[in-house]
Amino acid sequence: MEVPQHQIILAIESSCDETAASVIKDGQVLSNIIATQTVHEQYGGVVPEIASRTHLQHIVPVVDQALKTAGISKESLQAIAFTQAPGLLGSLLVGSSFAKGMAQALNIPLIGVHHMQAHVLAHFIEDPKPAFPFLCLTVSGGHTQIVLCHSPLDMEILGETIDDAAGEAFDKIAKMLELPYPGGPLIDRYAQQGNPKAFPFPIPSLEGLNYSFSGIKTAVLYFLQKQKAIDPDFVQKNIADICASVQYTIVTALLKKFEKAAKQYKVRHIGVAGGVSANSGLRTALTELGKKLRIEVYLPKFEYCTDNAAMIAVTAHYKMQRKEFTDLLAVPTARAAWK
Ligand code: KG4
Ligand code: ZN
Repeated sequence: MEVPQHQIILAIESSCDETAASVIKDGQVLSNIIATQTVHEQYGGVVPEIASRTHLQHIVPVVDQALKTAGISKESLQAIAFTQAPGLLGSLLVGSSFAKGMAQALNIPLIGVHHMQAHVLAHFIEDPKPAFPFLCLTVSGGHTQIVLCHSPLDMEILGETIDDAAGEAFDKIAKMLELPYPGGPLIDRYAQQGNPKAFPFPIPSLEGLNYSFSGIKTAVLYFLQKQKAIDPDFVQKNIADICASVQYTIVTALLKKFEKAAKQYKVRHIGVAGGVSANSGLRTALTELGKKLRIEVYLPKFEYCTDNAAMIAVTAHYKMQRKEFTDLLAVPTARAAWK
């Protein structure tokens, strides 16, 4: 059989409420298309059944657009990659079934990708890329992990949350403040006009490198209940200071363990990934940590922070180099052990 000259992969991401597709050629991303599902805003969170149905509506035009933007025909693809886990099962099923059908029709291999591994590898989409060992703080709506990468596909989790994820804490506190879903970006926006020391909330302190965010959430809930009993307009009058204080507490908690891990493992290259890595307070704090420890800090472009298919594509690129293909019988899973 003729050996193809270029390694061209189509990647599909559908783990939550973004339907995304990307084409990568020899490790270079040629397109990165995302259809965001705004329908969930009115419900205050992602409704899984609606997410699956919306993926079904979006997936064909999104894939089509990814191929058109890249200027690549279906026939020149060498593999189809898809997010296999973790995520909402119904959402994952849409992407994986589509990927399987397309791979079978084109008679090319499938590459199943772990979503959290892909968030870390978002740092390898564009230059400058971190060197190894690379320590990454992955903070999304569902996960909070300190990951040590020895090579693109060789990663270990050093610490993670034992309860809520950092993004979840942002979103749940935003809900208490009656801000629409997802509240993380709104807290960030208000925080920029507020005083981070206005309302001190306790910074959690667990043993080792694990995190806990449920205590912060409860502390804010009780604080708001108390203040609203005194003044029903407390939130409206103090929204910027509340958001700044909440953000300061979450960012301080995140950085405390991350700094400990960076020192413990003596890494020279650190970064953040996942939706919460778009947070301005976290980005500033990480830059300062880099200066303090005199190490290199990598902050992903905003389009690569939240869910996207370019990160799935770059992960698939590395997997294809190692010929790590996925069986057509593979099933997506809502939760998955780290691979
Ligand atoms: O990685 P992601 O897009 O999806 C998951 O895999 O979960 O992360 C979404 C999370 C949400 O919790 C959202 O509120 C949070 O990222 N987020 C932010 C910001 N932008 C997104 N949280 C704080 N500040 C932001 N600027
Ligand atoms: Zn994600």
